[in-house]
Amino acid sequence: MRLQDRIAIVTGAGAGIGKAIALGLAREGAKVVVNDINQVTGQATAQEIKEKYGRESLFLAGDVSQWRTAELLRDTTLEEYGRIDILVNNAGIMISGLVVDYREEDWDKIFAVNAKSVFLMCKAIGKVMMEQKYGKIVNVASIGAKNGDKYQAAYAATKAAVMNFSRAFSREMAPYNVNVNSICPGVVETELGKVNLDDPEKRKKFIEMTPKGRISVPEDMVGLTIFLCTDESEFIVGQAINVDGGILYY
Ligand SMILES: NC(=O)c1ccc[n+]([C@@H]2O[C@H](COP(=O)([O-])OP(=O)(O)OC[C@H]3O[C@@H](n4cnc5c(N)ncnc54)[C@H](O)[C@@H]3O)[C@@H](O)[C@H]2O)c1
Repeated sequence: MRLQDRIAIVTGAGAGIGKAIALGLAREGAKVVVNDINQVTGQATAQEIKEKYGRESLFLAGDVSQWRTAELLRDTTLEEYGRIDILVNNAGIMISGLVVDYREEDWDKIFAVNAKSVFLMCKAIGKVMMEQKYGKIVNVASIGAKNGDKYQAAYAATKAAVMNFSRAFSREMAPYNVNVNSICPGVVETELGKVNLDDPEKRKKFIEMTPKGRISVPEDMVGLTIFLCTDESEFIVGQAINVDGGILYY
């Protein structure tokens, strides 16, 4: 096991990519603190970790766009386990729409959940990792950070913010032995991905765009995330790595 007894926090781990990552980290031996705004699904992930891998897991409900959630996750994890080795900022939402029709409150909301949350969590947990002189932070961006699609201007802007925040932050943290990187999923079969996949025409278009010839599933995001959380990726800093079956080449 590559992450034996490491202490990890995964946000938005009640469903989709976050859930797959939380289970993957636990499979590799980590003790995982599961966060989600949804009490039922978040609790279920923590339970599944215990049942499947016999590993300790704690569920902490909270909205990651609020500073008090970042404090809760930091303080409770430290009380319970004494350190924080891994932080995966995964929670996110999608609100689609033409820019000319997009509501200002939706812009503020999507930025709060997708981008501000990453800043708040990195601020709270980054300090702990700096003091420990050890840490791995993986922020979930999107290929939308590099290539915005129509109806997704706001979403793409939040993900570009996550990607570039991670780059700049990685330079502040590298001297403290804390690695910060982001991953850029393509189109993934999840609740959030439905907007792209429910329409059979769009689904077909995405499959054709993907050299691997299929839509990705949350488990496709796990291997890279685990790698970025191990010391095997020690010299990888500030990267934004696509996991998209070959859609983008930059
Ligand atoms: N599905 C895709 O096609 C795709 C592609 C690229 C990037 N992503 C990114 O991957 C991440 C996970 O997305 P997913 O597809 O698994 O979505 P999902 O909707 O299946 O899961 C997101 C989880 O985050 C939780 N969440 C939402 N708002 C929250 C908040 N304010 N605080 C705490 N938890 C919150 C939800 O309850 C849910 O459990 C997101 O950041 C998303 O932008 C997804």
